[in-house]
Amino acid sequence: MATLQPGVVLWPGLLDAAAQAALVAEIFVLLKDAPLYRPTMPRSGKPFSVEESSFGPLGWVSDVKGYRYAPVHPFTGKPWPAIPQMLMDLWDAQTRYPAPPECCLVNHYSEDAKMGLHQDRDEADFDAPVLSVSLGDDAFFRIGGEARGGNTARVKLASGDVLMFGGPARLAFHGIDRIVPGTSRLVPGGGRLNLTLRRVTKKDARPGG
Ligand code: SIN
Ligand code: MN
Repeated sequence: MATLQPGVVLWPGLLDAAAQAALVAEIFVLLKDAPLYRPTMPRSGKPFSVEESSFGPLGWVSDVKGYRYAPVHPFTGKPWPAIPQMLMDLWDAQTRYPAPPECCLVNHYSEDAKMGLHQDRDEADFDAPVLSVSLGDDAFFRIGGEARGGNTARVKLASGDVLMFGGPARLAFHGIDRIVPGTSRLVPGGGRLNLTLRRVTKKDARPGG
């Protein structure tokens, strides 16, 4: 385990090859029900370079109307599939947060995909950290502070790596500069999958939640 900056923790290779393969297999089954699609940017309507889907009671979506959480897939109109138990257990073990994640955002990066620096700030609860799982090709992840335009650090994320950012880094700007195509054969068709687990509503907002 390595603390990269206050609030940012990386567990390199936390998921072994068998766990990675089992997770990818489960994800591809769920993606039949909630297919990857290409979201668009608010206002401009420009398509993302990543493809996305979500699991859990709330999925993160983006279109010309803006960023938000929605209970159904924007194209199928169906509720998102449940978050795999392996990820629910990982959340408990790594975050020790006393409420479960409500969204697992799935990002699929093919060779030219990237993600610009942004904050995860569409959630009502910033007490919970964000937990991120990398599968497939290596990627250059960039993370800075809470202010846009500040210093950033670059870290290579490999398959099986788990990263958490919370506390003083919960609103840190972060993004993916690029992936390194062909560094893994894990994901069918190649590329990288990133799974981002988030708590969306306040911990006490729901009975039993
Ligand atoms: C994200 O910030 O939504 C994705 C980050 C990543 O792909 O590692
Ligand atoms: Mn993010």
